[in-house]
Amino acid sequence: MNENNELKGVLVTGASRGIGYELARLAAGDGYNPVLVSRTEEDLLKVKEKLEKEFGVQGKIIPGDLSEPGTPEKIFDEIESSNYRIDLLFNNAGRGQMGEFTKTDWETDREMMHLNMDAVIHLTKLFLPGMKERGDGGIINVSSLAAFQPGPLMALYYASKSFVQSFSEALAEEVKSYGIKVTALSPGPVDTDFRIKGKTPPEDQSDRSVSLDAEYVARIGYEGLKAGKRVVVPGKLASVVPQLTRFLPRKVVTRLVKKLNVYRLE
Ligand SMILES: NC(=O)c1ccc[n+]([C@@H]2O[C@H](COP(=O)([O-])OP(=O)(O)OC[C@H]3O[C@@H](n4cnc5c(N)ncnc54)[C@H](OP(=O)(O)O)[C@@H]3O)[C@@H](O)[C@H]2O)c1
Repeated sequence: MNENNELKGVLVTGASRGIGYELARLAAGDGYNPVLVSRTEEDLLKVKEKLEKEFGVQGKIIPGDLSEPGTPEKIFDEIESSNYRIDLLFNNAGRGQMGEFTKTDWETDREMMHLNMDAVIHLTKLFLPGMKERGDGGIINVSSLAAFQPGPLMALYYASKSFVQSFSEALAEEVKSYGIKVTALSPGPVDTDFRIKGKTPPEDQSDRSVSLDAEYVARIGYEGLKAGKRVVVPGKLASVVPQLTRFLPRKVVTRLVKKLNVYRLE
């Protein structure tokens, strides 16, 4: 706590498991008091207790559905009326959806766009001014390897991650003079419970043989933020993809991704 009775805090969306949990854990290990967001209160409470016990930090939970447009504002208001000061913002919560665009339903499309894009932008909009005023802050936006090329049969998911990627890289340039760092963390498959709608378990976990560990992905991302890296693609194999897709014709890349996604869908 500082002289203003403020707790230095990290706000993590999707903090109850997977990459978000690991990111929250890393920041808590550095003394950041975690403000944890996801839909399931019970899971958040367990994470809060675990981090408090392990690192002696003071946790706070804010259960909420980030696919609903009003949620970022509610989170901001709740933090504003507390003694937390958000120094780090980790926009991590996201979801996927598999299937031909003509066959996916609008409600699911809309929810995914709100969660993967609008919530990221809105939370960033709300918490950046405080960081700017203090001349210090860090943001990790969890993007994906999917950001670097179009993804037939997961068109909207890939597009949503391209959006996050482009936004994050542009923002990093805009806010660097205010002492704020922004990192797009863009992993390939990660071994988590990530659910891709349109697939049913255990098929949607078919990538697990090539998946990276969530703790590793989070650590590389967190270290990348501290080092001021704007783009972090964890894993040697995955890190080649953004370079490769730049040099191959876009149409060829798009067809290759379609083949991969047909295989994943089967
Ligand atoms: N796993 C991968 O292969 C992979 C690869 C590249 C990028 N990513 C990206 O990494 C991020 C995290 O994925 P993950 O693999 O760690 O997933 P995960 O293990 O399924 O965790 C997702 C987290 O987000 C929360 N969440 C989901 N929907 C939400 C909503 N509408 N509102 C608020 N919270 C919500 C979940 O809790 P509740 O369900 O309780 O809300 C959970 O805490 C996502 O942005 C994903 O696109 C994942």
